[in-house]
Amino acid sequence: MNLTPFKELMLRSCGHSFEKEREQALSAGLCRRMAVLDIDSPEAYYIRILRDQEELLRLTELLTVNETYFFREPEHLNLMVDKLLPVFMNTGNQRPVRILSAGCSTGEEPYTIAIMLRERFGTESERLFTITGVDIDSTVIVSAKQGVYGSGSFRGMDKSMLDSYFESHGPGKLRVSSAIRKQVAFEVVNLLGSAYPQRMMMPDIILYRNVSIYFPEQIQREIFGKLAELLADGGCLLVGASETIHHDIGVLTLVKQESLFFYHKTPKLVFEERRTSNRYFLTSERVPGVPLQTAPVSVPKLNAHRNRTQNEHNPESIRKHPHASIKPDVKERFDAAIEMAHNNQHDKALAALDAIIEQDGTFEKAYCLKGSLLLSASRFDEARIVCEAILVLDSLCLEAYLMLGMIARQKGDYDGAFKRFREAIYLDSSCWLAHFYSAEILFAQQDWKRARNSFDTALKILEKGSLKEQGQAFFPLSFNAEQFIVICRHKLSLLAQKKG
Ligand SMILES: C[S@@+](CC[C@H](N)C(=O)[O-])C[C@H]1O[C@@H](n2cnc3c(N)ncnc32)[C@H](O)[C@@H]1O
Repeated sequence: MNLTPFKELMLRSCGHSFEKEREQALSAGLCRRMAVLDIDSPEAYYIRILRDQEELLRLTELLTVNETYFFREPEHLNLMVDKLLPVFMNTGNQRPVRILSAGCSTGEEPYTIAIMLRERFGTESERLFTITGVDIDSTVIVSAKQGVYGSGSFRGMDKSMLDSYFESHGPGKLRVSSAIRKQVAFEVVNLLGSAYPQRMMMPDIILYRNVSIYFPEQIQREIFGKLAELLADGGCLLVGASETIHHDIGVLTLVKQESLFFYHKTPKLVFEERRTSNRYFLTSERVPGVPLQTAPVSVPKLNAHRNRTQNEHNPESIRKHPHASIKPDVKERFDAAIEMAHNNQHDKALAALDAIIEQDGTFEKAYCLKGSLLLSASRFDEARIVCEAILVLDSLCLEAYLMLGMIARQKGDYDGAFKRFREAIYLDSSCWLAHFYSAEILFAQQDWKRARNSFDTALKILEKGSLKEQGQAFFPLSFNAEQFIVICRHKLSLLAQKKG
């Protein structure tokens, strides 16, 4: 049988690859469906699945691997319950913390979470959390909703819990108690699909474990990118132990805590005023709980932008920066815009900044804040235009180069991003953030040697926290520098095993 058209169709529809050792499974599945439908030629069956979405789903369901059990790979689940969730609960948000099990199969994973939360928070967990399980396979979702399981599902579970959370359901079967069932919602969803349902939106935690193993690399990237986008700001994405490194593609930040890895949504860029340095810089929002247990570390100051510092004493530069003698009312209005940005009133802040720019089209700080707000809102094209305007005013603005690098990276233009980060490094060789992002790009491009050098440089600068003693302007990061140190060290340990 010529499997090629079926392979291509499966790849397009559900992301699964049926190369080599999985060809046999595909061929068996096709024979089975053709027998059920009494179709004797693969060509006729191919035409049928092209026209009949339901039949394509039946074939997909036959080919998915639904292996799962309660309390599978419990280390990440413990980390989530003990360390990650409490932080989300303490953010002052009135809404429940949202947990999504993406590729939940027959429901053991989301029910395990519900049981763990019940153990930890009692009946309050119903109010504090929502748990959603989604899977492409409608048959497993039907089973998940029923919540009836045989002994195989309990192989990773402490049997003393069975009495509390399960009831007998015929010979050899147990059903999840109704209190636990009520806490989990299930839905049929293709993670490769173009739109996700409302109940999946903005989860704080996504478990995406043992799902990506059959996806080829480009599909892994695509789905990981979609889940990353879905994640609420500051949210965490947990993958299976064997899958971690496949997803380290620079979309989310890889974080290590208690010897476990997970991904964290890239901190939102906001703007922070450093009154002491009398300059305004891009910074990153404090990420709740990342890292959760590390003591605050001193934030390394970066060298002043050497070139610019020189220029600031030069009359030509003063001509280019008339806001050096900025009018008090503009300063006040700018302070108000910063306040709005801090209070998450981004639209109001943007409107205020536009008014300021209209009054003083050379006020660079207003452009910088506007650019960072647009970047935070993923309005990349507008942010890029603002950055380009900044560079017209001040061709040595480090923040503009960093923002342009981040924009290019978000858009998947890694070469463009790399160029911008190099420019940032050229302006300020101690800009470890630019070294770090360059290293991430080189790592994704498997340029091991240069990635190693760049992580090494970022690490050395980070470890030299003493730069702040130099009393120069600095790039303030309100997220924890220690986290970056951990990531750099981890990357360097991975790179130590790579040749080249
Ligand atoms: C091996 S199970 C993993 C279950 C659970 N996450 C665990 O770790 O025990 C993988 C599940 O991913 C689902 N899956 C595969 N491709 C999918 C897709 N494109 N969209 C949604 N679910 C998918 C499969 O149907 C299967 O139930």
